[in-house]
Amino acid sequence: MKVAIIYSSKTGNTEKIAQEIKKQIPKEDLVFFGKPTEIVPQADLYFLGSFTDKGNASKEMLSFLPKIKQKQVAYFATAGYGGSKEYYQTLFERVKKQINSSNQILGYFYCQGKMPLQVKERYLSLLTQHPEDKTLSVSLENFEKAQTHPDEKDLQEVNHWSFSILQKANKKEEVKSCNL
Ligand SMILES: Cc1cc2nc3c(=O)[nH]c(=O)nc-3n(C[C@H](O)[C@H](O)[C@H](O)COP(=O)(O)O)c2cc1C
Repeated sequence: MKVAIIYSSKTGNTEKIAQEIKKQIPKEDLVFFGKPTEIVPQADLYFLGSFTDKGNASKEMLSFLPKIKQKQVAYFATAGYGGSKEYYQTLFERVKKQINSSNQILGYFYCQGKMPLQVKERYLSLLTQHPEDKTLSVSLENFEKAQTHPDEKDLQEVNHWSFSILQKANKKEEVKSCNL
């Protein structure tokens, strides 16, 4: 089974996740590892990943996703806000709209990813203007929490997740070849 890992990462968090997935793929099966390209690399299974950008995938990933058709796909991402399955689900529902319905979506994975220092500086400056704003204090707390992610536990989780995706994909390939 040919596998492609295609991801969009600005500061390296999502790339770290992509590298972890790569470890699961036998060398001879991996046909592509890198950023979205003009020409879609041909594969049976696509691991597609992005950092979260204003509540969605990155612009480059959003314009790449619709190019994949009639394949098996799995989506992975990092986000500045973490710890809530509901939040991740909401994010993925948005991304999913860009995935062509002819594909089989085998699953998705999210974890938290640290944010640049400028984000903290912006919160701090806003807090001096609006000291009563509780959401800013929550955002600052979250910023600190995010600083250690992706951590070892995140990498272990993505490791398990990608293993389960590969199992699902292999099963589907077997069913397909039995039906031929
Ligand atoms: C322009 C921009 C917009 C972002 N928007 C969100 C957002 O809407 N929700 C969120 O949870 N994180 C958001 N983040 C945080 C990133 O998704 C997070 O830090 C991610 O791990 C960065 O991944 P990367 O290192 O692969 O670029 C944003 C970051 C940037 C730079």
